Amino acid sequence: MNFFRLVLLSLTLIPCTLFAQHSAIDKKVDSLLSLMTLEEKVGQLNQLSSDFAATGPITKDGDKQDRVRQGKIGSYLNVTGAARTRSLQEIAMQSRLRIPLLFAQDVIHGYRTIFPIPLAEAASWDLAAMEQTARIAAVEAAASGIHWTFAPMVDIARDPRWGRVMEGAGEDSYLASLIAAARVKGFQGKGIGNTDAVMACAKHFAAYGAAEGGRDYNSVDMSVRKLYEVYLPPFKAAKEAGVASFMNSFNDLNGVPATGSSFLQRKILKGDWGFKGIVVSDWGSVGEMVNHGYAADLKDAARIAMNAGSDMDMESRAYVAHLVELVKDKKIDTVQLNDAVKRVLYKKFELGLFEDPYRFSDEKREQAVWNNPAHLQVAREMARKSIVLLKNDKFTPGNQPLLPLHSGSKKKIALIGPLVKAIGDNNGFWSYSWPDDSTRVVSLWQGFINKLGNANSLTYAKGCEITGSDTTGFTAARKTAREADLIILSIGESAIMSGEAKSRSQLQLPGVQEQLVKEMVATGKPVIVLISAGRPLVFNWIADHVPAIVYTWWLGTQAGNAIADVLFGDYNPSGKLPITFPRSEGQIPIYYNYLSTGRPFKSDTDNTYVTAYTDLPNSPRYVFGYGLSYTSFQYSSVQLSANTLSKGQSMQARVTVTNTGNYAGEEVVQLYLQDVVGSIVRPERELKAFEKIRLNPGESREVIFTLDPTALSFFNEKLELVAEPGLFHVYIGGNSQATQKASFTLL
Ligand code: BGC
Repeated sequence: MNFFRLVLLSLTLIPCTLFAQHSAIDKKVDSLLSLMTLEEKVGQLNQLSSDFAATGPITKDGDKQDRVRQGKIGSYLNVTGAARTRSLQEIAMQSRLRIPLLFAQDVIHGYRTIFPIPLAEAASWDLAAMEQTARIAAVEAAASGIHWTFAPMVDIARDPRWGRVMEGAGEDSYLASLIAAARVKGFQGKGIGNTDAVMACAKHFAAYGAAEGGRDYNSVDMSVRKLYEVYLPPFKAAKEAGVASFMNSFNDLNGVPATGSSFLQRKILKGDWGFKGIVVSDWGSVGEMVNHGYAADLKDAARIAMNAGSDMDMESRAYVAHLVELVKDKKIDTVQLNDAVKRVLYKKFELGLFEDPYRFSDEKREQAVWNNPAHLQVAREMARKSIVLLKNDKFTPGNQPLLPLHSGSKKKIALIGPLVKAIGDNNGFWSYSWPDDSTRVVSLWQGFINKLGNANSLTYAKGCEITGSDTTGFTAARKTAREADLIILSIGESAIMSGEAKSRSQLQLPGVQEQLVKEMVATGKPVIVLISAGRPLVFNWIADHVPAIVYTWWLGTQAGNAIADVLFGDYNPSGKLPITFPRSEGQIPIYYNYLSTGRPFKSDTDNTYVTAYTDLPNSPRYVFGYGLSYTSFQYSSVQLSANTLSKGQSMQARVTVTNTGNYAGEEVVQLYLQDVVGSIVRPERELKAFEKIRLNPGESREVIFTLDPTALSFFNEKLELVAEPGLFHVYIGGNSQATQKASFTLL
């Protein structure tokens, strides 16, 4: 055993109390740092991708394994499986100081078991459920040797043209903040260092979701106040939930690339918020500062990024190429370099990798957790909760809503559309495909067979492809439709149409799918449309003419079973939109909590000299928070515990909700607040609280919300969080257009 091995072994005795552990880790980090050469320090800040699942060009520069041996790579992304992570870790153990590698991966909505895309999960408004799916993703990934997921993505997105809306929690800062915290807790479980937990990463810091024109990687220009009010809260919530890392972003913010922004990384994140974890760049974003015209060359980019507080360089190889020289030339302060290295080493110690570098790469555990049927059950439950029922009108003959269907009925059902038998598309963007996907992922077709026991009452026609102009399949689809009693159409986007670099200027259904729907409606048969997509699409004709519409997003491994559960009423849909659905791309950006204007919009029919379009209604197609159930809910008037409130005090708002329909069901009771007069113009209303309740038919429940000073506060011109005296309106209901209202005055 050599000297360094002895030193490292002596560094790994972990005391039990948390405080003692922290200071003990700091000591270990300091002793290790004192043994490191400048080159080895820089190596810790270098993150490279394996050649799998790259989202950017891979900068090949020779044998990566040799570099690991030389201590020139601190972290890998995209290495899959316990066996591969173990074998790379073995090479790291041949390096002089035997510093283990950190393995990172985009485990965004599941790893082996794929859960609904994050935007879909957000539609459940079920924080515990979202924490649970992140937990399972962590369990599965950790067993494969992954220490670090690049999730949750917590970017607020108010522009559905931006393909990455699928990856976040939608448009609202309050809802997204709670979801951010739930996901961080899920990924990190009982704490980093447990072999079933992975480090989470709040990304992309910051304001990436506000890319101009919804075009990915584009510029962002916004007031700092708006940044604080709308875009930063989910990041702050992730930080407060103990997130281990942050990722910066590709965009420039007010002219400064986020990767080179000291304001974002040093002042806000590491300064004001006191963040102690790792800040990793986005893929190649250090080098891209040259393209931005913000850095003269790669060396300049390395200098700017490190000085700005970007600790680890993902795939630019700017740090590994230039930091040594920059430190020697005193262009970078050693204190800053050491701080970045310490952050990385700290996490490696916290993960327990110095004790046992292979503790995560466990092939036996990998096999066991990967095939855990309980994970599939959770995936099915989460998928059901994510589905949003957009329309369920009465249909003649019968004058009854088409949904739910009855599994005992002898009706012949035609399943039509390009997504009926889809497998991979169910997983959506940012997911992994596995060799047994064809049997493991449940298509809609299979879900129906599972529900009905056989395919006897089912027929199928594809009708058309997702894209393209070929309508030759319409003839067979028409024939299949005419011979059936009911038509269920499964249409939408393919999985690669929403995601990174998947901005779209037009949000209509791709290809000839809408035409196919028209053909099916023309048969006069009852039609139910299921739309799978990673973002809000525009489908006005369908919304106007089809009696039943279900938004099924991308639901993951159990998609088909979950959709069948909802359609056959084994689960009563409860999803509520976490993002506004526009009528037209011309309304974008569109969101519910817009600021009050001097010429408020009145109604879609009276729009003269008010803030409105002359050729388009102002109202969206479906508002934020909207979603139907098979039952109906009635809201009482809103009761407040007081009409006035002293500064710093809390108050209660109460409402009684009654299930007035025939099915047991869940309702997301939502509270919105309007601060009527402010030193900064305030939104017309803002979500401040919600609760998801379950009621049997005829049952009533009183829901009590507590409004505390934070709920009344906003960032004023000086960026102070203040609650200003004056009138407030409270609205409570089942979506953002809630009309039950009460008012109080803050003294
Ligand atoms: C994305 C990140 C992702 C990274 C690594 C980038 O292109 O913006 O969100 O974590 O690639 O795959």
